[in-house]
Amino acid sequence: MRDQTAELLSWYDTHARVMPWRVGPSERKKGIRPNPYHVWMSEIMLQQTTVKAVKDYFVKFIRLWPTVQDLAAAEDADVMAAWAGLGYYARARNLLKCARVVVADYGGEFPADHAELLKLPGIGPYTAAAVSAIAFDLPETVLDGNVERVMARKHNVQTPLPTAKPELMTLAESYTPNERPGDYAQAVMDLGATICTPKNPACGICAWRDDCQGRLAGTAAELPRKLPK
Ligand code: ADE
Repeated sequence: MRDQTAELLSWYDTHARVMPWRVGPSERKKGIRPNPYHVWMSEIMLQQTTVKAVKDYFVKFIRLWPTVQDLAAAEDADVMAAWAGLGYYARARNLLKCARVVVADYGGEFPADHAELLKLPGIGPYTAAAVSAIAFDLPETVLDGNVERVMARKHNVQTPLPTAKPELMTLAESYTPNERPGDYAQAVMDLGATICTPKNPACGICAWRDDCQGRLAGTAAELPRKLPK
């Protein structure tokens, strides 16, 4: 899948979305690294909330608590009040718990390793992979709803969700590069969010259009299939 991964990375070089926590591809090439605290904060907020809604909250949180040490020392009530409106308040309680564990047990440095990240409050397999890939450029595979849809379409997977998850993970892993895995993880999520959208995918301008089995079969817009609830 090397050439396909390269195609997507070159699309990302010119089409990466600008996000306040993101270090874009041109900055990454100059050696600028993302701040793991920022990456972690954004990924927790993005777990159940859209990018558009998260942006202002992210900026507010980083202004109020510029470092993980600042957040760890915050009053619980202040953090809960700043979170108001984002919903799913267990995330805010875990955010604070996690910051305190990182300061108390990890010297204030987020671990890079997927298994180590999984031990932290509020961090599941998706978030561990996202932080490991984006913040530390380790070749971990992110599988969120966007990536599931992209993979189901690219390989014309007819198995419905959630049964298809392991199959989609294996497919997704086959594209993860050893070079620029952080940019790749963000590229495939951006593709799913902006081109390979749930409705009316923009197949005509997709970096993967020539090799997309769903597009060639005419099934792309119907995928991924879902088991009836
Ligand atoms: N959705 C969740 N995390 C994201 C990221 N880092 N880039 C794009 N979309 C995302």
